[in-house]
Amino acid sequence: MMINKSVQEAVNEQIKNELYSGYMYLAMSAYCEANNFPGAAKWMAMQAKEEQEHAMKFYAYLFDRGGRVTLQVIPQPPAEYKGLLDIFEQAYAHEQKVTAMIGSIYALAATENDYATTSMLKWFIDEQVEEERNASQIVEMLKLAGNHIPAVMMLDGRLGARAE
Ligand SMILES: [Fe+2]
Ligand SMILES: [Fe+2]
Repeated sequence: MMINKSVQEAVNEQIKNELYSGYMYLAMSAYCEANNFPGAAKWMAMQAKEEQEHAMKFYAYLFDRGGRVTLQVIPQPPAEYKGLLDIFEQAYAHEQKVTAMIGSIYALAATENDYATTSMLKWFIDEQVEEERNASQIVEMLKLAGNHIPAVMMLDGRLGARAE
């Protein structure tokens, strides 16, 4: 069964949202790079790449369902931040918003009896649990480190050890 127009529109919108997430994380990575947090810069660059993959999952899904991809304008992300804690607090808030977006697409697909889409979205629902947990954990660790430079440097090193 070909994908319903309203679900297709919501998925197209989400392709843009995931690309924006990637763009935002890349801006955060650039800030970290410029402000001597190489570990956080690497973490953010890897996250940016992951968001690109999320966008491509939705992209491929539309074709699997006989749908059409319509790429949209990606908004400009902020370039300036108040530091590492600010960045991860914004990342956490952003992931909570993304969770809500995925939830609304799921709800729409359920209303349209589009079980293929609700099934596909299950992967994203689980992924969001992980994304929120990662971001909030880093926020808490940064709060503990506070203005203690050695602790912040140690944390930056830990972020740089991110493997996937
Ligand atoms: Fe994502
Ligand atoms: Fe993830």
